[in-house]
Amino acid sequence: MDDRALDPSLTLLLDALERTPDNAPLRVHVANLLVGAGRHADAIKHFRQCEGDAQVGTDAQLGIARAALALGDAEASLAAAEKLLASVPSHAKGLLARARALHARGQHKEALADYDKAVSLDAQLAEPALRDALIRDATDPRARFRVVSGGTNAAQDAGAAAAIPENSVPDRVTFADVGGLDEVKEKIRMRIVYPFSNPDMFKAFGKKIGGGILFYGPPGCGKTFLAKATAGECRAHFINVGLHEVLDMWIGNSEKQLHQLFEDARRRAPSVLFFDEVDALGMQRAKLHSGSMRGVITQFLAELDGFASRNERVLVIGATNTPWDLDSAFRRPGRFDQVLFVPPPDRAARRQILELKTTGKPLASVDFDAVAANTEGWSGADLEHLIDASAELALTQSIARGTIEPITGAHIDKARAKVRPTTREWFSTARNYAQYANEAGQYDDIADYIRRHNF
Ligand SMILES: Nc1ncnc2c1ncn2[C@@H]1O[C@H](COP(=O)(O)OP(=O)(O)O)[C@@H](O)[C@H]1O
Ligand SMILES: [Mg+2]
Repeated sequence: MDDRALDPSLTLLLDALERTPDNAPLRVHVANLLVGAGRHADAIKHFRQCEGDAQVGTDAQLGIARAALALGDAEASLAAAEKLLASVPSHAKGLLARARALHARGQHKEALADYDKAVSLDAQLAEPALRDALIRDATDPRARFRVVSGGTNAAQDAGAAAAIPENSVPDRVTFADVGGLDEVKEKIRMRIVYPFSNPDMFKAFGKKIGGGILFYGPPGCGKTFLAKATAGECRAHFINVGLHEVLDMWIGNSEKQLHQLFEDARRRAPSVLFFDEVDALGMQRAKLHSGSMRGVITQFLAELDGFASRNERVLVIGATNTPWDLDSAFRRPGRFDQVLFVPPPDRAARRQILELKTTGKPLASVDFDAVAANTEGWSGADLEHLIDASAELALTQSIARGTIEPITGAHIDKARAKVRPTTREWFSTARNYAQYANEAGQYDDIADYIRRHNF
């Protein structure tokens, strides 16, 4: 059985769906997760039940188009996309879905037209690799019936699961995929990877194992990515719980569900249980309006405490952009007692990230040192956008000229105008906490960073 099908949050949501079978948005959400877990046929059954829904009917049709294609059923995929486009003719994602279905049927020119229209409506949908394939196949009469897998962006977006081939297993992410952050990686190796891999040795020296780790820092600088890579380094299962997404649907019996999640993590040990946006759970009590959240927090803390004493091969990692929203109870020993600041990439790291993100793309000799020097304050995600936008420009030129035009420094300069660095804004908020709310020294890393960069 496909490993990913065991995702505990999916199990929980399926339970929730049984209790509220008429919740069409939930059903579509679950179906999208099923697609992500490779369970396309099951997903289609759920989508079919929601096709007529006023609110999410189009999402369901889109889901069918994608899941059917993943099953190799281009006809069903096309039919679903057609139905969607009949009701919403300029539905960008619908057009993209039809492009894929047409591509799989060997109608490459029509597919290309749909793809271009989709991207003109929503530039975010651009997938240079897909467009390359469409152009190549449109001009290659031998090309027939290709099934195209989604780009990484589409695959990451749980709500928009792409046509992932049934048996593809996502590659393990490791520290080698993370640019820079050498100090953070070293701390993770010492405090997490080694103890996790050699528990007996650490016990022999009287070192405590366990306790959760909290990553915090500006958005887009690799917290989520690093958590995934940490799991990869530990060769552990990675269980990613997006709290904002899940909590809403748990109302009623969240405590039980939360317990279930920890139990699942134990069953799948060695595993990394990752709570992204953990601030959703740990809002300072003063900011909490609803009493019902309090029970969830208590339960969560009790689960963490349980781990601290039992020494299981489950690692709990949390990540947040807003550590100041976390209740200090979360930082007690045995809970998230290791707190790591994940800073924006420095110059050398930016260079490395630029290289990582251009690997495998046609590239002229670009002076990445210069680009790195001119992108102070840019996050890894910002740099990734810069490369995507540059690739898009090179591709457009390639098509116009009918040859492969590699990405050049000129493309990057031009693309720069479209990307805004995002970390400064975060620091303008963080500075206040570092200056005025740092009694326990918990924001020393931020203060230090601000001092060294003289903002
Ligand atoms: N240091 C880095 N090295 C390589 N890629 C990075 C790095 N930081 C960010 N990225 C890229 O940016 C994307 C967003 O980063 P993410 O981990 O989601 O940031 P955060 O969780 O801190 O908001 C990642 O998927 C990754 O592709
Ligand atoms: Mg994140």
